[in-house]
Amino acid sequence: MGGRKRDTILVMPFPVHRLRRLRGSEILRNLVRETRLHPGQFILPLFVCPGEGVRREIGAMPGNYQLSVDELVKECAEVKSLGIGGVILFGLPESKDEMASGAYDDNGIVQRAIRALRKETPGLLIATDVCNCEYTSHGHCGFVKDGDVDNDTTLQWLARTAVSHARAGADIVAPSDMMDGRVWAIRKELDASGYEKTPILAYSAKFASVFYGPFREAAESAPQFGDRRSYQMDPANGREAMREIELDLQEGADMIMVKPAMPYLDLIRQARDRFDVPIAAYQVSGEYSMIVAAARNGWIDQERAMMESLTSIVRAGAAIVLTYFAKPAARLLG
Ligand code: PBG
Repeated sequence: MGGRKRDTILVMPFPVHRLRRLRGSEILRNLVRETRLHPGQFILPLFVCPGEGVRREIGAMPGNYQLSVDELVKECAEVKSLGIGGVILFGLPESKDEMASGAYDDNGIVQRAIRALRKETPGLLIATDVCNCEYTSHGHCGFVKDGDVDNDTTLQWLARTAVSHARAGADIVAPSDMMDGRVWAIRKELDASGYEKTPILAYSAKFASVFYGPFREAAESAPQFGDRRSYQMDPANGREAMREIELDLQEGADMIMVKPAMPYLDLIRQARDRFDVPIAAYQVSGEYSMIVAAARNGWIDQERAMMESLTSIVRAGAAIVLTYFAKPAARLLG
């Protein structure tokens, strides 16, 4: 028999190789599973509002609530007991104005929430979203001049907000505004104020996405005119996303984020392959609400959709997942 033919027979994949062998039972599947989830890699977004005893369910995000500080403390005690990696706070201020003054007020809603959590749930990681859209009367992420958000004025607000969060006790500040130079502006101001140890998680590749819809009800932050396309990214642009990440890292970001997650898994993977920093992905409100809505209609199994979506995000390369499923997923992972 000619060598060539023999080789062909020897390397013939079937019936020697049968990939189904390792799928034959749950104990085998468990042994060879490549991607594993852990509650410690989840961050739960929470919405804090004025008042006392307030626990108002968000219509478009069933299972999520606007919480007053006292209720937030209770929620966070549970989050901590589940071993979840941390929370990220969004604030609903008492009042909004053109200057987003509630964002950088040392007595603002998020600042008060951080101080309460520091005291009541020590050891729980507290990240804060640094942005202005919840605090401006027009709902845009910065100072509006001639119908557009003015980049460099907005940087000053962001830097002040980040310092004020750090002063209140935030473990991580996470700018989500998409202004150019915000990481640099925040790093500089944090360092000048004695917070050189506070890490920055930059929402680096943040797209102008329709999937933020439900969040805007939760945070009462829908823009009153126009949209966010002059500062958030065009969903079509992957190379530009890598530039955004690279620039944020040069400006001093400690970790970067891709947002939303599932429609942008390719970019999570590219970022993982290119940059040796922790990569976060945000499974945003619309991603959550679609799954919950389909499940409520009996069209999909919520638990399995939750776990499959989270697994795909981690498999793509995210080390940290911001997700509204953090509690049920952590419970399931036991
Ligand atoms: C603030 C911010 C938004 C989200 C996170 N930070 C809203 C937006 O940019 O319009 C969206 C999160 C979600 O949809 O879950 N700029």
